Amino acid sequence: MSDAASHHPQQASFIATSEAETDRLGAWLAKALAPGDIVALQGDLGAGKTRLVRSIVASRSPQPQAVSSPTFVLMQRYDADVPIFHFDAYRLRDVEEFLELGVEEIFAEPGICLIEWAARVADALPARHLRIDIRVTGPETREFVLTGAHARSIAMIEDVRGRMANSGSSAAPFR
Ligand SMILES: Nc1ncnc2c1ncn2[C@@H]1O[C@H](COP(=O)(O)OP(=O)(O)OP(=O)(O)O)[C@@H](O)[C@H]1O
Ligand SMILES: [Mg+2]
Repeated sequence: MSDAASHHPQQASFIATSEAETDRLGAWLAKALAPGDIVALQGDLGAGKTRLVRSIVASRSPQPQAVSSPTFVLMQRYDADVPIFHFDAYRLRDVEEFLELGVEEIFAEPGICLIEWAARVADALPARHLRIDIRVTGPETREFVLTGAHARSIAMIEDVRGRMANSGSSAAPFR
């Protein structure tokens, strides 16, 4: 879209050896995300996209909230400290159907957008989005790779990377 990427892509990876570790990443992400931010989640069925969304929403919500794959409603809204919009592009026919959900207006709102199967709607995502690829490496282990090529997404990666480093976790940032 209009705000083209103009930076070298940055990446950071995090190995979660349990769901509790995924919750830690979710909590760091929750702190790093600001209103207007967009996270594009990629990974196979059962990789942990929804599980990570649940961690992020829980970290920013005063009350527990039910988070499930919004596959059949396409979009869910959670009332956290700021609105969190959760999309699942798996069943969308095409980018047009995504735009018909009113995403351009939602992207312009002071909320946070978390999108599962985001590669299917890549053409509709503002360049500032943070991409997270999730790889299944064992029954309870997952590799999360954060990628950004825009000033905003790079700032998010730096923020999360700093939190990882301070926690002394197994974080393995790479270029
Ligand atoms: N370390 C981990 N992090 C995240 N999920 C894990 C982990 N270990 C095991 N799991 C399990 O992996 C599954 C992840 O399911 P989830 O619904 O989050 O996948 P998804 O990527 O959203 O899939 P879909 O594309 O079907 O929506 C859950 O059953 C969860 O309990
Ligand atoms: Mg899901």
